[in-house]
Amino acid sequence: MDTLQRRKRLVIGNWKMHGNQASNATLLEELRAGAASVGACDIAICAPFPYIGQASASLQGSGITWGAQDVSPHAQGAYTGEVSASMLADFACTWSLVGHSERRAMHGETDKLVADKAVAALSAGLTPVVCVGETQSEQESGHTSDVIARQLAPLIALGAQQVNRMVFAYEPVWAIGTGLSATPEQAQEVHAFVRKRLESIGASQVRILYGGSVKPDNAANLFAMPDIDGALVGGASLKAQDFLRIAAA
Ligand code: 13P
Repeated sequence: MDTLQRRKRLVIGNWKMHGNQASNATLLEELRAGAASVGACDIAICAPFPYIGQASASLQGSGITWGAQDVSPHAQGAYTGEVSASMLADFACTWSLVGHSERRAMHGETDKLVADKAVAALSAGLTPVVCVGETQSEQESGHTSDVIARQLAPLIALGAQQVNRMVFAYEPVWAIGTGLSATPEQAQEVHAFVRKRLESIGASQVRILYGGSVKPDNAANLFAMPDIDGALVGGASLKAQDFLRIAAA
């Protein structure tokens, strides 16, 4: 059995800061109804914090799992506005994104903080989905692998046992919400680089997702690449039919 067969595909919808109770109810119902027809692929959504309870109530028993878009690095205490991993576990979350480029850029999240959040998620039994990716200027100046290596370093330092329990997502910042997806070959090159780093410490079971303008019409070509194990989908995850078509690909 080759490694491609061993790693089950995973497609996660990142709703970002979109939706309300009424629109979520429709979207969740459509996802629930369509999930069974998608086949052998894990499907998940990451909702805004206030709607995680709604997602949990609606997706129970659907085969679709749910999670958050961020998590506190702290277990509990006087951290106004923060949400702990155990609170997410209390709502039966499976996942938490950590280190999304929007949080790195807008909230100054450092590589070290991202690793601390990943550890906090693991401690509560969640699977962190660790996002890495370079900006357009970093890509244009030929620094993609340096940036990715720097972002990975504090995670790699945690060792294989922890890293094997994570999921990684390569999201080139220049491809997020721009309609400008990386080509399958471009993405594969970075995924292979990430995989090599993870394998260098013996973490060989890790799923690596691609994110950045994934749509129903480019998903199949991306998923055909040997090191792309699925997708982290933004905009297209807000339309049930598009998201399900990506998962079906
Ligand atoms: P888009 O799919 O909207 O480009 O967003 C990607 C993303 O940031 C997912 O986390």
